[in-house]
Amino acid sequence: MPSNKIIGPVPVRPRPVIAIDGPAGAGKSTVARRLADRLGFLLVDTGALYRAVAFASERQGVAWQDAPNVEQVAEQIAPTLVLTRAADGSVRVALDGDDISEAIRTPRMATGASMVSAYVGVRLALLGIQRQAALQGGVVLEGRDIGTSVFPDAEVKFFLTAQDEVRARRRHEELLAKGTRVTLEETLADVRARDQRDRDRPVAPLRQASDAVLVDSSNRSIDAVVEEMAALVANVTR
Ligand code: DC
Repeated sequence: MPSNKIIGPVPVRPRPVIAIDGPAGAGKSTVARRLADRLGFLLVDTGALYRAVAFASERQGVAWQDAPNVEQVAEQIAPTLVLTRAADGSVRVALDGDDISEAIRTPRMATGASMVSAYVGVRLALLGIQRQAALQGGVVLEGRDIGTSVFPDAEVKFFLTAQDEVRARRRHEELLAKGTRVTLEETLADVRARDQRDRDRPVAPLRQASDAVLVDSSNRSIDAVVEEMAALVANVTR
């Protein structure tokens, strides 16, 4: 008689899901991009989705503190959000057909994203897009709660971090390169405030999943970090 017993894990996805979580300025975006390109995987920058909610709320005159209305904005815009990659590899974000990629990458929208991301309705509204994008696997997702909450079953999980001062210095350099005039001290204060808000929120806070590999990028080049991560992915998925 044939047995219905399943022996061993059931393969649910043909290709792995790679989660990269960590605080602001740890180098997640660059590393995630490089890793995705190297593996030929899709890239999902989940922070861009929260930034889009902050942006859309502001555009509709909804204050970031106004949880019920921000949640409504998130539900309304979620189906219209599209993430793509430009020819130069950068992530582009469209909201109802409008390219908002530059508008969301400001210190102000970073703060707004951090505030609106604390609302459970916002997180739920954005969950579907993130899970849908990775249904077939072959995806690198970067964010704060991918390994703990969006894909607790991700095949490979990284928690990428770096010392506060190093992260602030990197952010500061990026902002100066874009022509944003801020001091290093202001950037450090922003980075710390955002970390604290992201860590202290009750829903899906920023934290390392128990099965995530901790990678500290403080004193290492991006190349070295990407090498280490790619080697681990190859090891786990072969
Ligand atoms: O990665 P980023 O700087 O674009 O993220 C902006 C904010 O969005 C971050 O401070 C917290 C929130 N966020 C989140 O709560 N969960 C994620 N998976 C990604 C970002």
